[in-house]
Amino acid sequence: MQVLHIPEREARFEAMTEILAAAFPSRFHALDIGCGTGSLSERVLRRCPGARIVAIDHDPVLLAIGRNGLGTVHGRLRWVDADLRAPDWDRLVPRGRFDAAVSTTALHWLKPSELRRFYKGLARRLRPGAIFLNGDALPADPGSKSRIVRLAGEIRHRRARDRAPPDARPWSEWWREVSKEPALGEEWAEHERRYPHAHGNDPASGLNLHWSALVAAGFREVGVLWQDLDNRVLVGVR
Ligand SMILES: C[S@@+](CC[C@H](N)C(=O)[O-])C[C@H]1O[C@@H](n2cnc3c(N)ncnc32)[C@H](O)[C@@H]1O
Repeated sequence: MQVLHIPEREARFEAMTEILAAAFPSRFHALDIGCGTGSLSERVLRRCPGARIVAIDHDPVLLAIGRNGLGTVHGRLRWVDADLRAPDWDRLVPRGRFDAAVSTTALHWLKPSELRRFYKGLARRLRPGAIFLNGDALPADPGSKSRIVRLAGEIRHRRARDRAPPDARPWSEWWREVSKEPALGEEWAEHERRYPHAHGNDPASGLNLHWSALVAAGFREVGVLWQDLDNRVLVGVR
């Protein structure tokens, strides 16, 4: 479904798992932030046999689908329901400092002030030398009508139209079907309570905001290790 909106999604997952595999040849403990149904965790656990992950999200429907579908992957995957906007978002995260944190297509939902606070909290939960990877649409100049931003949008739109698999459905259609699933009735009611309004990208979410917020949070090195148009994997070294 998300492939319709992010045609380069799988290539970005591949790049992120490759970076983790290179950074941690043996064991590591990571956070998956805004994990949804666990698509990224699933790929990391498959590629990196020494990985253990704590996957965090606040959507009860997506967490239930992830828990039911993936389970714990032999005790290597743990699910946590937490709101990243809360100052104590890591209250239910196991104690200790993590070796890595990853996130895809999630942090653009936070307002700049929430994002800066979240990155400060994240920095406290990562050990020195730990790696954070954020894979997302990260335009340098978000919301602007710059020629570069428009070109990236046009190419992405064309790719989505030309390259989408025949069975790909829009995100909205997937959600409509999920909302009718009787087994998820309770989770759906809680989803509606938590998210009474549709989400949108924060208009300021882009490369410069994330980069400066990571530096301000104490990440000693920040850089881009993969990019396709303005879709990037931003890396922070704690
Ligand atoms: C587009 S989905 C991406 C899911 C997954 N990372 C992936 O790439 O498939 C965005 C996710 O961010 C989560 N999210 C957004 N705001 C959040 C918040 N404040 N706290 C926790 N999760 C949040 C949503 O619930 C959703 O699962």
